[in-house]
Amino acid sequence: MSLAEDIKRKIDIVDVISECVHLEKAGQNFKALCPFHNEKHPSFFVFPEQQTWHCFGACGTGGDVFSFIMKKEGVEFGQSLRILAERAGISLSSQGSTRVAENEAQQRLFHVTDAAAEYYHHILTSTATGEAARKYLNARKISPEVISDFRLGYSPNGWDVLKTFLQNKGYKDEEMKQAGLIISKEGNSYDRFRNRLMFPICDIQGRVTGFGARALDNSQPKYINSPQTPLFDKSSTPYGIDKAKNAIRINNLVIVVEGYMDTIKAHQHGWNNVVASMGTSLTEKQVEVIKRLTKHITLALDADTAGEEATLRGIETLVKSLGKGIVDAELKIISLPQGKDPDDVIGESPSTWQNLVQEALPSLDFAFQVTMSKLDLNKAKDKSTAAQKLLPLLSEIAAPIYQAHYIQKLANILKVSEATLVTSLKNLHVNRRRQTYPMAGESFNPQRPDLASPLDDYCLALLLQYPDLRSMAQELSPDHFESTENRELFLAWQRAPDINTLSQKLDPGLAEHIQYLYHKSFPPAIKKDFSNRQAVCSDCILRLQERLTKRFQREREFMFSITREKEGIAAELAKLEEQGILPDQQLQEIFIREGNRRNKNDTSQK
Ligand code: UTP
Ligand code: MN
Repeated sequence: MSLAEDIKRKIDIVDVISECVHLEKAGQNFKALCPFHNEKHPSFFVFPEQQTWHCFGACGTGGDVFSFIMKKEGVEFGQSLRILAERAGISLSSQGSTRVAENEAQQRLFHVTDAAAEYYHHILTSTATGEAARKYLNARKISPEVISDFRLGYSPNGWDVLKTFLQNKGYKDEEMKQAGLIISKEGNSYDRFRNRLMFPICDIQGRVTGFGARALDNSQPKYINSPQTPLFDKSSTPYGIDKAKNAIRINNLVIVVEGYMDTIKAHQHGWNNVVASMGTSLTEKQVEVIKRLTKHITLALDADTAGEEATLRGIETLVKSLGKGIVDAELKIISLPQGKDPDDVIGESPSTWQNLVQEALPSLDFAFQVTMSKLDLNKAKDKSTAAQKLLPLLSEIAAPIYQAHYIQKLANILKVSEATLVTSLKNLHVNRRRQTYPMAGESFNPQRPDLASPLDDYCLALLLQYPDLRSMAQELSPDHFESTENRELFLAWQRAPDINTLSQKLDPGLAEHIQYLYHKSFPPAIKKDFSNRQAVCSDCILRLQERLTKRFQREREFMFSITREKEGIAAELAKLEEQGILPDQQLQEIFIREGNRRNKNDTSQK
């Protein structure tokens, strides 16, 4: 039995989900308001028998207990495995891989950083030493609630205050050094952070990875941050993401500001979906983390940086790293009033901030504005400059209607024909693959682990063992596999050119399962004869497709049964249909494809 199966056997999805969602009985199943989007009528269901969940509302997605944790905590499969293994009381160290050993060392470092955060927080809130820092926060109108929520702290003004405290707790100097808390020079070591206001920086699960530390006066540097450590990489996680993740999901929007103070002030005034990029522009890694929660990002930019070239390039990169098929409307820009940051704005007038958020410009409109403001469009040269700057951005737009909208807009402004622009755009397009909407590709996919394994395993084992079958798998998508572990494995296999690369890159939690599949034995006919295994593989793929079709059918029936009960859900379905993501369409596509394959006339539609 694989680790994931073992975990599934030991825990009940209903227990896991009911800890964070209020479940109501609905026949043999449970229903609730979906934790992943805002809704008035429950469209989130948990099916104890299949150990699956599904949101029939705006999410239109579901899965097993692993995919629930992945979505809820915003983590990858490997981390969901560790979280649930711990819960199931299964030790991961029995896996014996070096990466697991690394994880143990990492765990130890997390304990050190956590102890440090707790210590700094205690000094700030409960000691005479913390008096000046308390006054400072008070003067900046930071409330006790957010001081405690964000665990703000104060690092005393001495060379070895933290070091001594941690030594007494049993931590070694080497560990403190690795966690970036002390600096060692020529055999001596001393506290890195002294006489500073401390902002613990956490990963998405709320574990302290590092610190930002502000001087209490005008001394420079204003902020010191933790150095790169095994836990901390300033460019990898937005500040505040652990506190913001639920609000981001519920609002389906993240607002990205620059600073620690901006984030805290926003949360204090009820904008809980705010995170900080920590001074730099949003990095690709930070976008990766955010993307698991929402695809709607609003950036608050300084009036000064907003007008700069670099900012436009930053937007282009962002649109790219937001991923395939992102529609432009999902990245918006707030241009802050001159000389003010969100902390200032909110402090002066929360309603001004509210307006700024509401009036954020779609990034392309913003780019148009910035570009045009510097040009004289009566000049041919400036027209050409405008096109040169904006066309690369337009070429990133995946959705044809959005793209057409902006081509029209540009043509109008420049007073040139759309055809001219389209030609220039095509020249940019050489070799660029057309991308599709993410929504249309996302599937409607509840999983049934009890049905899953044999067929999924068989097909995956074939693909893993016989590279000559790879091209056949083009007809498969991760949706064809029912357990999260097989989907993840299939995804990883799609990306890896060969089995060695695959094994190296794979999460240790999947190591055992891939070994099992790799050594699954097949009859000699399959081993020896390519056309034979090709036929078997083709049959396998067909059966997986059939299974998916049937599952869609069952889900659709279920959905219609609840639709009859609830007008609210009917409204949501209508919304889905409007967005073009009703599963019917996918169903029809599959029917048609299957019909073609089998050359039968059973493609009748409802
Ligand atoms: P700001 O200079 O705008 O500071 O830097 P701030 O956040 O508004 O802080 P206050 O209001 O002056 O107290 C924005 C962010 O850039 C990073 C920090 O994350 C900071 O919050 N930064 C800035 C540094 O990392 N180091 C620095 O020296 C300055
Ligand atoms: Mn500020």
